[in-house]
Amino acid sequence: MKNIISLIVFLLLSVSCLEAKPNIVILATGGTIAGSIDSELETTGYKAGVIGIETLIKAVPQIKDIAQVSGEQIANIDSSNMNDEIWLKLAKKINELLKKDVDGIVITHGTDTMEETAYFLNLTVKSNKPVVLVGAMRPATAMSADGPKNLYNAVALAANKNAKNKGVMIAMDDKILGARGAVKTHTLNVDAFTSPDFGNLGYIVDGRVFFYNTISKDHTTKTPFNISKLKTLPKVDILYTYSNDGSGVATKALFDNGTQGLVVAGSGAGSIHENQKEVLKDLMKKGLKVAVSTRVVAGSVAVSKDDQNLGFISAQNLNPQKARVLLMLALTKTHDSAKIQKYFEKY
Ligand code: SIN
Repeated sequence: MKNIISLIVFLLLSVSCLEAKPNIVILATGGTIAGSIDSELETTGYKAGVIGIETLIKAVPQIKDIAQVSGEQIANIDSSNMNDEIWLKLAKKINELLKKDVDGIVITHGTDTMEETAYFLNLTVKSNKPVVLVGAMRPATAMSADGPKNLYNAVALAANKNAKNKGVMIAMDDKILGARGAVKTHTLNVDAFTSPDFGNLGYIVDGRVFFYNTISKDHTTKTPFNISKLKTLPKVDILYTYSNDGSGVATKALFDNGTQGLVVAGSGAGSIHENQKEVLKDLMKKGLKVAVSTRVVAGSVAVSKDDQNLGFISAQNLNPQKARVLLMLALTKTHDSAKIQKYFEKY
């Protein structure tokens, strides 16, 4: 009799283990996925970041079939208003949750600055569990809103057992993109993200996850950046280059206003107008750190050895907005340009 009871208990436990769904937490920050407007026809002119996370979850009841899901509202903003305070709050929250029995995180986010938040988290999350950002190009009220399917796919990805150790990912329009490579390359189409230098990591087809690519750069647990005690981040700005741009007015104003680092969105493979370069060199002698990126959408910059010796840092193939993220984090560790250069080569 005792043996039979033990067997029944064992079988019940086995069945419940088999059926246990991954525990996924959705952290909501706003964006078009939570956007609303009075007309189903309108896909522009809406207000982003108005619908709450519980409503978003209720709109996709199918996610409960693939995961045990709970939601938390971290912010509800248009992502063009994203700031360091929300970044730090998000990273700390994710690190706290992933230490517990949470299997994966989904972050709903506006698409405009999604790539920056994704890369910030790729460098500051200290876990190998899946972290997935998702958004939408059409508001929740639109006739053909893309948010519900994107959210379903993001949960499927975060719940997938093969999604560990990939760094932070973006799930948009059935694609899986790595945080370092993903770039928003269309202003309005639902297929808004590509990864020009790396390609997609994989695809999600009706909730089934397929990986076709690997991540070569170090991320998450392999970076030295620890934000757990930080309340602010170093001020870093971006300087765009263009024809006839040699005054250095903006450069000097930014430096006088407290910027510690500048990312130059250079032309071509990182060229900078010679007059502008002289201003930068002067300010570098006063402590300004300068990383050279490019306004071109793909490819790496080529910073000469002489310029590197002067302290110019090559942002490699990081676009200006992502180079800014890495320079900010690098400045929490060091002001040595050679050490910062190593970070750009590694992450
Ligand atoms: C935003 O980035 O918050 C608005 C645009 C979008 O989500 O597509």
